[in-house]
Amino acid sequence: MKYIIGNWKSNKNLREVTSWLDAYKEKDLEIFKSGVQIIIAPPYPFLLTVKDALKDTPWIKIASQDISQFGAGTYTGAVSSHNLDGLIDFAIIGHSERRKHFEESNATVASKAELAKSSDIEPVICVRGKEDIIPDGTTYIAYEPPGAISTGDGKGDAASVSDVIQMRQTLGITEKQKYIYGGSVNPLNIREYLENDQIDGVLPGGVSLDPEKFYELGSIAVSLTV
Ligand code: PGA
Repeated sequence: MKYIIGNWKSNKNLREVTSWLDAYKEKDLEIFKSGVQIIIAPPYPFLLTVKDALKDTPWIKIASQDISQFGAGTYTGAVSSHNLDGLIDFAIIGHSERRKHFEESNATVASKAELAKSSDIEPVICVRGKEDIIPDGTTYIAYEPPGAISTGDGKGDAASVSDVIQMRQTLGITEKQKYIYGGSVNPLNIREYLENDQIDGVLPGGVSLDPEKFYELGSIAVSLTV
């Protein structure tokens, strides 16, 4: 199984989300029923919008881009794992943009991962390298070197496959874990990553904003699995 996790970051308003969904739903989404797991990570306000729009294609999963480090309760403005229980399948946790702009520590990331799991949400732990600790029991790890992340067009300085594989060894990823790469993944370079059996998936940001290109990533992945 190969994973493609589209991270929209803080982009799109309701109008833009609706038109993304309209365009995406016109595609043949049946091709994603097996072999490739498509996961869409919209901003919080649109999780339900995306889930509802894709209710006839439940094999496409929804993720949040973060989760509160606190549980349900008196934490105004925070979105807890309890809020998200039943709404999403995955949560991206510890993205380098969270670590940088919101000063998230390894301890915060570990607590978020724990809370996610308590609500049956699968954490996808993002690490910049070995300085970031992978919480015990993590299945999904996304290696995202900050220098490879694009400014929003998917055309940054993507890490080479050999660097990604090398980091897999450095991080001590096991056979049971899923190792995902993120950073300027686009339709021109996705094959290199997914053709490698040491890389279980990709986490595109900029390219996922365009429904045509995001679909193209998925269909390339499907073509590699048949
Ligand atoms: P990018 O973003 O594909 O635009 O480089 C990846 C990410 O930060 O998740």
